[in-house]
Amino acid sequence: MLARICLLVASVAAVARASDVIFGYLPTWQLDKAAAIDQSKYTHLSLAFAIPDESGSISMENQDAILTNYTSTESTKILVSLGGWTGSKHFSAILKDAKKRSDMAQNMVRWIKDYNFDGWDIDFEYPGRQGDSCHPFDPAQDTKNLLVFVNDLRQRLSDEFPESQKLITLATRFQPFDGPAGPLDNVSAFAAPIDFINIMLYDFNGVWSDSTGPNAPLDFAPGKGLQVSYRSSIQAWIDAGIPPAKINAGLPFYGRTTTAKIDISKEKDMYQPLNKQIPKGDAEDLEEADSSCGGSKAFSGVWKYRNLRSEGVLDSVDSAVSPWIRHFDPETITPWLFNRETMDFISYDDTLSISAKTQHAMDKGLAGVMVWPATNDYDNELLSAIYDTLYQE
Ligand SMILES: *[C@@H]1O[C@H](CO)[C@@H](O)[C@H](O)[C@H]1NC(C)=O
Ligand SMILES: *[C@@H]1O[C@H](CO)[C@@H](O)[C@H](O)[C@H]1NC(C)=O
Repeated sequence: MLARICLLVASVAAVARASDVIFGYLPTWQLDKAAAIDQSKYTHLSLAFAIPDESGSISMENQDAILTNYTSTESTKILVSLGGWTGSKHFSAILKDAKKRSDMAQNMVRWIKDYNFDGWDIDFEYPGRQGDSCHPFDPAQDTKNLLVFVNDLRQRLSDEFPESQKLITLATRFQPFDGPAGPLDNVSAFAAPIDFINIMLYDFNGVWSDSTGPNAPLDFAPGKGLQVSYRSSIQAWIDAGIPPAKINAGLPFYGRTTTAKIDISKEKDMYQPLNKQIPKGDAEDLEEADSSCGGSKAFSGVWKYRNLRSEGVLDSVDSAVSPWIRHFDPETITPWLFNRETMDFISYDDTLSISAKTQHAMDKGLAGVMVWPATNDYDNELLSAIYDTLYQE
């Protein structure tokens, strides 16, 4: 009898669960790492990126080989992401021009027909604001034009695929889309045509900041670092009219390195003066110029989680290899690492911070969480932390 009651309770809980989305990005330049991912735990995987040219034509490097390699399953839907940081150069101009806008939408419909995937994730991450340094933007028009475009795309997808609900998702920065006076206080009109927005809740503090600080704090420390967090950004999008059930909260599977000017391990907190030169991150971090805008070569300072775990920094989830020391900051609910010999400081996410953020997404009744990028995991550790938090009990 008891067992029966437990079963009943469990099935009620399963039906009532609000948050069940785990949306992962698969960068096309990292697909050799995709086989190690427990893909069945992702409800959505998006191949990033297809890039529009100035006429609204779309291409992806190696597109035939890649897109025929991924087909949706019962558990996992497949999307393609359009644009991204370096691939968004032409969005502003395309969306302004009725002919180009319509051509791009038509091309997007044709890609779904040709390659048979489940929908588009649009990564015009910075409408109305400077993204990559050489990309044009228009504060008065971009957000309005994006809405016109998304509504048009929704109409075309409904007309072309009446039987199957094709998806439209948007990748966005931490604040609501911009208008002429900065972030808009009402973007609710986007809610109807889209399935989800995926909020990028990382890259808050880095070499661009006044001090070392957390890459992706669940909460910010009052008066220290950028006064924005995972929690405050989710609330900002909800306050601007996007229903929680259409929001996936972004989780980084990486950390960022900066070099401190003083020994952080001797201080009370992680916010200390830093060098303005980005140090090399993991072994995969190359000194490169921006692939869209050029400029001088620089490291990114990025440490992929799997490399933190396999290149002699962390020898378990919560212990560092000397000379690295590890701390878990209770205020921002994120871990950090410091190397006294190089003075390198790494703020990153681990199973504890990822679980806490996933729990917050559930508490807010969000659709779920988003991962950038799925290919950075180590033995599915971070993915399991999400999965076990979402699907426990
Ligand atoms: C196809 O998928 C497998 C498994 O995920 C991966 O190892 C392989 O590199 C992929 N090939 C291409 C061209 O993406
Ligand atoms: C937000 O905009 C929508 C239309 O886009 C409107 O219906 C709604 O009343 C607005 N909400 C507020 C609080 O102004």
